[in-house]
Amino acid sequence: MKLHLSPKVKLRPDGGRAILFSVNSTETDGEEVFRFLYPQQAIILALFDGTKKIGDIKKLVSFLFNLTDEGAAEQIEALLALPVNSNDVIGSCLQETDDANAHLIRPYDPGMFVVPADEIDMRDVRCKTPIRILILPTMQCATNCIYCYADTGGMQGRKQFGLDLFKRLLRELKECAIETVDFSGGDFFCRADAFKLLEATLNEGLYPTIPTKMPLTREVADRLVSMGLKTIQISIDAFTPDLIDKLMQLNGYGRKILDSIDYLGEAGIKVRTNTVLTPLNIHDVPALVAFLAERPFVFKINITCYGRSLYRHDDALFVGKDALQEFEENLNKIKTSYPQKIITFSGANPDYYAGSEKEKSKLYNERSLCTANRRGVVVLPDGQVTVCEELYFHPDFIIGDLNKNSLMEIWNSSKALELAYPSQESVPDGPCKNCPDYRQCHDYLGRCYREALKAYGYEKPHWPDPRCSRAPKGRSFVAC
Ligand SMILES: C[S@@+](CC[C@H](N)C(=O)[O-])C[C@H]1O[C@@H](n2cnc3c(N)ncnc32)[C@H](O)[C@@H]1O
Ligand code: SF4
Ligand code: SF4
Repeated sequence: MKLHLSPKVKLRPDGGRAILFSVNSTETDGEEVFRFLYPQQAIILALFDGTKKIGDIKKLVSFLFNLTDEGAAEQIEALLALPVNSNDVIGSCLQETDDANAHLIRPYDPGMFVVPADEIDMRDVRCKTPIRILILPTMQCATNCIYCYADTGGMQGRKQFGLDLFKRLLRELKECAIETVDFSGGDFFCRADAFKLLEATLNEGLYPTIPTKMPLTREVADRLVSMGLKTIQISIDAFTPDLIDKLMQLNGYGRKILDSIDYLGEAGIKVRTNTVLTPLNIHDVPALVAFLAERPFVFKINITCYGRSLYRHDDALFVGKDALQEFEENLNKIKTSYPQKIITFSGANPDYYAGSEKEKSKLYNERSLCTANRRGVVVLPDGQVTVCEELYFHPDFIIGDLNKNSLMEIWNSSKALELAYPSQESVPDGPCKNCPDYRQCHDYLGRCYREALKAYGYEKPHWPDPRCSRAPKGRSFVAC
């Protein structure tokens, strides 16, 4: 049997180490794959190229690392058992090679992962170059969604980046081994040159992931297919057209977006959907899920609870506990009718201020790692670069401007590094100022700036992550 690394993951050198990561983390079936590897581990994985039997790989490992056959087998076994996320191990990223998948294999030269022994360095949680990019081409929208978290007014008085800057950025992404370009906004299709942006992305061989609420005609769907678009996200919140209109504050819109889903599917584009759950649509969403699940071209249906917005917040949009429980029961019934569909629900928003200090402390120490400015960046519609989508134009988090510098200059800029390794002396006030755990908190899992802003206000970016046990009670993230 010959094995190879799944084309859904990629190996890349990263200074004194290597990284194994999901090529397309937005459309991955399961959890995103990410792991730093020692150079020798990457070299071994690079040998899984679909041309060698496992016995041959063992012999090569034994030769390369001066090991006995048993020693080589143990090394490989241990490597394949290493976790790449909370569910999967490296071994689950390997696939059996056959005639149907051989052409998809990414070949690696094991030599590209060789690092002199004294330069091996696994310490930093920050990648040497980004592995993810989110581009917001515009903050304009076709709709006016009542719940939106985006700073849709933030672009006023600013100039949108042009096609030349965008094309240069795409080339820079490829140099970072990035293959997927995630978009958000605003709405991609509100850019006058949306099709040129798409064409440029596809021409570079990059994979665009686009979420949209723009109603698309049959003609547009056909055009997108002919350009090479394979998938798209339609954000849709209800099955009843009038209710969609109410949520989007746009009369006559609901029917058009429901029809767009069929136009896209019939043209040959696979559709994933995202639905924001509020008390207004909670009783209508099960019918929407059934409608979507019936469509063979809808490959993923995601539902997420309304989350606090910095710009357009309304407590009345939080879903209450009881309503949520009833919704989940209904959703589970629908799921059993469509076992072949991927239907995901993010669950209730966590209540950050609940629980004893000990419980909060435990949960905080188990939080997931913040990837902002460590693995990825966000490009704003004017070419400025920030570290997380919902921070938008907040000046504290702008690490550079693509109109003035390259992506790698920005990634290595003093502003980006100061933000990545912040000094406690620069904290003017609040609980983080004298916190004994400051270094551990900021250098490893990280403090969520977005949630700090939401909890304590736009003027308090230096305040604690509201999940921290030292954080005072701030604005609520759940229904009262
Ligand atoms: C900010 S939008 C940008 C892309 C595009 N305009 C759209 O709506 O699909 C990205 C996604 O976030 C969702 N969203 C917006 N505000 C939200 C909120 N307050 N809570 C949860 N999801 C939200 C939208 O419905 C959409 O699926
Ligand atoms: S959710 Fe999307 S379409 Fe709606 S206002 Fe926000 S960015 Fe615009
Ligand atoms: S969020 Fe602030 S107060 Fe909490 S552990 Fe981190 S540095 Fe300390």
